[in-house]
Amino acid sequence: MSDGEIRCEGLVKVYNQGQVNEFTALKGLDFTISEGDFMGIMGPSGSGKSTLLNLISCLDTPTKGEVYIEGTAISTLNGSERAKLRREKLGFVFQQFNLIRTMTSFENIELPMRFKGTPAGERRRRIEELLSIVGLEGKGGNKPTELSGGEQQRVAIARALANNPKIIMADEPTGNLDTKTGTRIIDLLVRLNKEENKTLVMVTHDPGIAKTTHRVIRIQDGKILP
Ligand SMILES: Nc1ncnc2c1ncn2[C@@H]1O[C@H](COP(=O)(O)OP(=O)(O)O)[C@@H](O)[C@H]1O
Ligand SMILES: [Mg+2]
Repeated sequence: MSDGEIRCEGLVKVYNQGQVNEFTALKGLDFTISEGDFMGIMGPSGSGKSTLLNLISCLDTPTKGEVYIEGTAISTLNGSERAKLRREKLGFVFQQFNLIRTMTSFENIELPMRFKGTPAGERRRRIEELLSIVGLEGKGGNKPTELSGGEQQRVAIARALANNPKIIMADEPTGNLDTKTGTRIIDLLVRLNKEENKTLVMVTHDPGIAKTTHRVIRIQDGKILP
């Protein structure tokens, strides 16, 4: 059973291939993240962490190699199949929250369900449930500017969970938060991993946070350190 599994084979990413500023950001990465795993990705700035996360998120395509999500080779999917996979299998949490500023918490969380075509009544029920999971009951009507950083990140987590994906990817999710708020966000992600068996992939700089993961991949100069 490959539910919630991510496998990477020989991943290479070359930016600006064939040009004078060609740069090889990933130099052949192989690893598997199993269902329910909590994997940390660590490494210095510029080592290729976000590049790797973008590849396993199907946001970008590798120059060589393959990413398998639940056994499906991403390169075999067309654009709409890839969009569907992203929408239904993967949830994303970013350092900058990436909420839509003109929309309320409710509307931000609703967006992935609109794209999926979930009926309005069901969307409403799910949003209330999600607001409660992330501890933001009563904040559904607030826009991002009317929320603290930690609250915005919790809206982003609720949005990531909207379509109940098996896999959650987080790129330095506490990078813009103070330590105490960051700890609450990590606790929330850990709880989702433990209680709902979500596969969790998290890029972090913070060795303290990395300790909460099950295992860590260390990247340096586009390679995994042994
Ligand atoms: N779109 C791009 N075009 C060219 N080079 C890029 C691009 N994105 C990232 N890079 C380069 O690839 C390397 C790895 O970047 P990144 O994956 O963002 O590192 P990290 O997230 O570990 O800080 C860096 O040297 C960066 O400058
Ligand atoms: Mg990065």
